[in-house]
Order: sequence, then structure tokens, then C-alpha cells
Amino acid sequence: MKVNGKHYRTIWLNANGWAVDIIDQTRFPHEFETVTLWTPDDAAVAIKDMLVRGAPLIGVTAAYGMALAMRQDESDEQLTQAYDLLLRTRPTAINLKWALDEMMKTLGPTPRSQRADVAYARAAEIADEDVAINQSIGRNGFEIIKAIAAKRKPGDTINILTHCNAGWLATVDWGTATAPIYTAHDAGVPIHVWVDETRPRNQGASLTAWELLHHGVPHTVIPDNTGGHLMQHGQVDMAIVGTDRTTAQGDVCNKIGTYLKALAAHDNGVPFYVALPSPTIDFNVVDGVKEIPIEQRSGHEVSHMTGRTSDGRIETVEIVPKGSKVANYAFDVTPAKYVTGLITERGVIAANREAIARAFPERAG
Ligand code: MRU
Repeated sequence: MKVNGKHYRTIWLNANGWAVDIIDQTRFPHEFETVTLWTPDDAAVAIKDMLVRGAPLIGVTAAYGMALAMRQDESDEQLTQAYDLLLRTRPTAINLKWALDEMMKTLGPTPRSQRADVAYARAAEIADEDVAINQSIGRNGFEIIKAIAAKRKPGDTINILTHCNAGWLATVDWGTATAPIYTAHDAGVPIHVWVDETRPRNQGASLTAWELLHHGVPHTVIPDNTGGHLMQHGQVDMAIVGTDRTTAQGDVCNKIGTYLKALAAHDNGVPFYVALPSPTIDFNVVDGVKEIPIEQRSGHEVSHMTGRTSDGRIETVEIVPKGSKVANYAFDVTPAKYVTGLITERGVIAANREAIARAFPERAG
């Protein structure tokens, strides 16, 4: 997508042809800065400290982390060490393991002397595949938006609620939940997006709002607790969220707070869609509530907030009394029964075992 008229992906090869450049997402929304990853450890830190985040982008960064590792040393030991190092960074988004397994499948049988070249090529392929998947999700989700628009007066605005950031910053380009939104907006359908701020890291307020603003999509940032009220008053036509891991039976793990939005949508008859690239499906897991490991992050993310002061300084302040305990569960699981449909690269499918296996038979086994 474009930033000040220049096309960016979220990850690309440095001008030197081998290091990897990323956008430092911890600086948003006030600063746009890029950072260069030189080593597999740099890639691991970028994922762990959320300079890059969002399930698809985490996967691609890990793939490039393997390429950086192979450039240092093409041995079997290095391969295994880099895999373990990168896998440990974040536990919930399954794209991380998916991408690392893809790299292992490719690099394992490759002769040592060719591993670095092959690793860069496979990482680039995974990045390009992500863009193509998201464009298809955009086209398929646009059909749903068109169907909703067809029931309205011509020119009526379609109000879409989203949670966290499942935009182009969470992927290589286009985004998952935002792909249908950008596609519809670019086609001239009037869209307005309710952006959940998404405490504690504020991915909605800092990232989704920034993206939509730059693309010219009308939007309003709302505190996380507002969605239910808006739905009760007919101000939400549909919700589209992303996912960090979706199970074989269609349970959707996503940023904390997603489940509450799904319950409110269910109670108010608002369609609740999940944009789901196939690498985010974990066919080894069935019951999402019981089986998906939920990342618990530092309490500092809850007890402190960072922002820009009126004189332009970026400052972090404490918002919780010293001595109060805090908890920081990063994700929750929305059971499949609350999901209206999964917008995948192969079409919009029901959130159940049969439909998912039918759409992706080569992965379902
Ligand atoms: O902790 P994050 O920012 O990596 O989590 C990302 C999300 O949960 C997003 O909402 C998203 O839907 C999944 S990535 C497309």
C-alpha cells in the first residue's frame, strides 16, 4: 500500500541484496521508521518485541530470519537452532510455525552449499503468496459487501467494525480483514470503518487508523467497549476481523476482545466474518478454547501507555496504581458457532470442519 505516495510492503530486501528491512511498528502512529535486520537474532527480537506483528507478517519475518541464518552458516545445526530460536518468539499465531515448517521442508533436502540462496528464494515466495492470498480475500469479501449494499439505498454508507489490526501492516500487503474494505473503497462503494482501539497495545488506534487514514477510507476510532452499543442501534452492518489461528472446526483465535464483539454481533443479528488466509488454519487443533496456547504478555503493556505530548515528545506514562495486579492475555477464542463465515482465498466458507476440509483438502489430510 502507499505511504505518502510511495508503495511499501511491510518487509523487503535491503538495497545490499541480503539484509531485510521492516517498518518499525512500535513507532506508529506518530513516526514512520524502517529498521534493518542483519541476523536471525534481529528477526527474533523484531517478532518478540512486536516491531513486526500480525500473524502473516510474523510468518514471513521468520522465513527471512531462516534466510539470514543460512547466510551466516548453512549447517544442519544452524538450521535447527534458527528454527527453535524463531519458533520461541510468539506462541499463538500459527503462521509462524507454518512458515518455519515450510522453510525446513525446503531447506532440509537442499545441499548445504545452496541453502542460503534457496532460503531467500522460498522466503520471497512466501511473501508473494501472502500478497496474492490477501488480494483474493479482498475480492471474495467484496462480494459480501456488495450483497449488503444491494439491500440498501444506492449511495448508502456500509459500516464495518474491525478489531485490532488485520490490515496491510499485519501482512505483507493489503491485509486480511482490510482487503475487502480496500477493495470496496477503491471500487467506489461508500465504506465507513469502526476501529476498535484494541487495548492494551492499541493496534486499532495506532495501526488500523493510520492505514485507513493514509488510504483515505473514512473511519472512526472507538473505545473497545463501544461495539455492542453501536450494534444495538443499527450502526454496524457487518464485522470483519482477522485471526491468528483458526482450528479445523472453525474456532477463531484472535486479539483479545474479539470474542466479546462476536457475542454482541450474535445478539444483534450483525454478520460476523473472519478473514482467513489458509496458512492461519491449524489442522492439528480442533477445540480452540481448550487447545490453543494464549500468549500472556508483560503487565507493563496494561499499566502504561505511550503517546505524543502536545509539544511533540513521545512519552510513556503509568495509568494503574502501583501495587495493583494486572493481567495481559493477548488473544481469545471465538467459537465457530458465532462466526457467520470465513473469507478465504478460495471463497467464503462456513466455519465448520466439513467446509474447511472441503476448501483445503491438501492441508486437511
Ligand atoms: O498481537 P498482534 O498484534 O500480532 O495480533 C494480531 C491480531 O490479533 C490481529 O487482530 C489479526 O487479526 C491477526 S493477523 C491478521
